[in-house]
Amino acid sequence: MSNDEHGSRLDQTSVTSQDNRPARGALPAQSSGEHASSPAVATLLQHHPYRAPQGFASPQLPSYRASTVLFDNVRQMRERRWRDKSGYTYGLHGTPASFALERRLADIEGARHAVLCPSGLSAIALVDLALLRQGDEVLIPCNAYAPGRDLAQNMLAVWGISTRIYDPLDPPSVRERIGPNTRLMWLEAPGSVTMEMPDLRALVALAQESGVLTAIDNTWSAGLALQPFDLGIDLSMQALTKYQSGGADVLMGAVLVRDDALHDALLDAHMRLGLGVGGDDVALMLRGLASMPLRYAAHDASARRVAEWLQARPEVRQVLHPALPGSPGHEHWRRDFRGAAGLFSLYFQPEFEPARVDAFVDALQLFGIGYSWGGPMSLAVPYDLRHARAAVSPAVGSAAAAVQAEARYLVRLNIGLERVEDLIADLEHALHAALGPRTGVA
Ligand SMILES: Cc1ncc(COP(=O)(O)O)c(C=O)c1O
Repeated sequence: MSNDEHGSRLDQTSVTSQDNRPARGALPAQSSGEHASSPAVATLLQHHPYRAPQGFASPQLPSYRASTVLFDNVRQMRERRWRDKSGYTYGLHGTPASFALERRLADIEGARHAVLCPSGLSAIALVDLALLRQGDEVLIPCNAYAPGRDLAQNMLAVWGISTRIYDPLDPPSVRERIGPNTRLMWLEAPGSVTMEMPDLRALVALAQESGVLTAIDNTWSAGLALQPFDLGIDLSMQALTKYQSGGADVLMGAVLVRDDALHDALLDAHMRLGLGVGGDDVALMLRGLASMPLRYAAHDASARRVAEWLQARPEVRQVLHPALPGSPGHEHWRRDFRGAAGLFSLYFQPEFEPARVDAFVDALQLFGIGYSWGGPMSLAVPYDLRHARAAVSPAVGSAAAAVQAEARYLVRLNIGLERVEDLIADLEHALHAALGPRTGVA
């Protein structure tokens, strides 16, 4: 008899604990008004006795969807603790697949713990809300991912938490910004959009001298190219939306730590904020993660070729790619990183006004126009830096601000998995179409 046939007999005695549902006894006896031969379908569909055979194995974990998690009995329900992740209590606190994803992410960066969040931005918010209290100050680099800065300056401010913006390329000026109430220093490597690579070791040393916690947005390295805990950084945040997903179709974030007390603080805030992730998204993330190292290396190789090609073009003033000599903070990348992402930016010659830069982006055929990065399709986004960067106090001699002052308008490219020659041909065509034939420009 096949399994299906077995199931269709509605054998009320076959309830076992063979699937992921606890064995809680057979279906109740029929009430007198119902058909004697079978339980009411509505009840049957909730309590169907069929249990699939054990022993199914496939390379990937399945999608575990859960809000409710079932217990064998009340005692088990009362005794199980959501916090220690040794069992399951409620969908918000994890499933076998989300625990597996957390472990894999933690192992990539040499962390002890990982906590999943519904997006990269919510992972940034989790760090802030778990660690900061009224009266605290948080330090944020002027080239940070703008929505994270916006969260601090607009929401944290309302709760009495103040933000100080610092220039990540000028560590001495950062010392002046650390005060008695400074609790947390955010790091980002490289900076969002403008791609400057800070001296992480110098910044971490400054923070440690003053007992300030450090958290890095480590999304660009995917945890593969930079090991932040080896540099003494306390928390690593990943927008899994990018390389871990790899498909440009799932949003998720994670916070990674080594320290147990920090993990506890994150778990408390995570529980109170209800930052659950969907089971199907976790399964997709696990699938993407399996190929991430290969994809990351391919993005890296293609992006460096495109960046070098662009650097030699007369229309281009500067390519901002941390692995390219001459890019701001390149020496820090060379010292601390063992790879680069597929994301970089470029400034055009100042004579090209924003409308022509927009026309260049519009002329691209293989580059989609859209936010985010890390996916298989190449993307291009023009940025006006007046909106993308926070102002640093003019009192600070800012190398980052100097780059910005000269060329306000740039294009950020996400190099996808297309054949690199095709991407270069597309860029060449768009340069010609939008900026005209160019010869002999310095
Ligand atoms: C550097 C960086 N950090 C964090 C995020 C936020 O990730 P998410 O889109 O998953 O909220 C992004 C998104 O673009 C990003 O570029």
